[in-house]
Amino acid sequence: MNPSPSGAVPTWLLQRLEAAGGAVPFRTYMEWVLHDPLHGAYGAGRLHIGPAGDFATAPSLGPDFAALLAPQLADWLTPLAAAGPGPLALVETGPGEGHLALQLAEALAAGWPELAERLELVLVEPNAGMAARQRQLLADCPLPCRWVSFAALAAAPVRGVMLAHEVLDALAVERITWDGALWRQQVVALHEDPAAGLSLRLEPGEPLEPAAAAQLEALGLLPPSPQRPPGWCSELHPGLAPWLEAAAMALAAGQLLVIDYALEAWRYYAPQRSGGTLMAYRGQQASDDPLADPGTWDLTSHLCIESVNAAAASGGWELLGQARQGEALLALGLAERLHGLQQGSASELATLLARREALLRLVDPRALGEFRWLAYGRAVPLEPPRFSREPGLSATG
Ligand SMILES: C[S@@+](CC[C@H](N)C(=O)[O-])C[C@H]1O[C@@H](n2cnc3c(N)ncnc32)[C@H](O)[C@@H]1O
Repeated sequence: MNPSPSGAVPTWLLQRLEAAGGAVPFRTYMEWVLHDPLHGAYGAGRLHIGPAGDFATAPSLGPDFAALLAPQLADWLTPLAAAGPGPLALVETGPGEGHLALQLAEALAAGWPELAERLELVLVEPNAGMAARQRQLLADCPLPCRWVSFAALAAAPVRGVMLAHEVLDALAVERITWDGALWRQQVVALHEDPAAGLSLRLEPGEPLEPAAAAQLEALGLLPPSPQRPPGWCSELHPGLAPWLEAAAMALAAGQLLVIDYALEAWRYYAPQRSGGTLMAYRGQQASDDPLADPGTWDLTSHLCIESVNAAAASGGWELLGQARQGEALLALGLAERLHGLQQGSASELATLLARREALLRLVDPRALGEFRWLAYGRAVPLEPPRFSREPGLSATG
């Protein structure tokens, strides 16, 4: 593939790349620039989520997303509560600013007070910079809150519901590139130009182990060689299996709801998607250059639905159902909620209009409506969720 030039290299990154011999796999670079505690965009708490921040997520648009989701969580938590005494947990992984956690705690406390009395909010956030802001937002949360790692939860697993909203797309991806004959691991390399100085480049690195390359082809995820021009590049998600396994160890019984931008393998790895799905976001701007100003942009890539399902199954999760976000929210009452916004006093007009716009954005296929909801269970009956009546419904088409 063509090497991509980029801008200045910060000293910390220069030192690490030099110590690594001048290049590291893209996955290592992504891990550093997102999650390094001092220099990473999330690790240092540099990214701000919301319409006035770096990028908006559904809960950052207002409380309606959580209000629609709450009955589904209550559906899942009620039988767990009936099954025996003891605390229940609403686990949010990667809570960002803490919007969703707070809004769900408020919705559950208001709508299901008996359930809420047994409920604690458990936050799994590896990045200290983000956790600090979550603590501030959740200072007056109506549920007891604690921040804990998957490793600590594995020692004392909880029963309840776990959420992963726009989290798995923040796991570092492996980028692979086809050079016309071989699959190679893409690397981020230092490049010295006498005129322009030092810069970062994306370059094809070592060939993938033959066994790994054969496995890729056997999975049928990748387009056959003749359809793939040299330089064709995409992502694999090696972080999914360990994450889903750790999540399973944290939950003795309950459901996991993954919500993220995800594509079927045939779409993800389509020949014409020759540059993969990796994007960078900062200050409400989108960019396809992952090397610019390292540690100040969010880097994210879509998920492949089959890869998530396979990693979940190997981690001990059973698929309960899946749907597009637009369909899921309509099944949970979005149309009725929109209708309800027609009634209100003149003084509420601006708020009602903003909420209406946010709700429409949640289901608009060009905005957040194409997000996928993937529900899994552990030690619970295999019942389809309220938002997807057919078990394991394949979200194709
Ligand atoms: C895009 S933000 C999503 C925030 C929030 N869920 C929302 O929708 O507004 C990603 C969040 O996941 C966190 N994160 C990154 N890697 C993680 C991991 N391995 N496990 C849990 N959370 C992680 C980030 O620090 C950040 O809080």
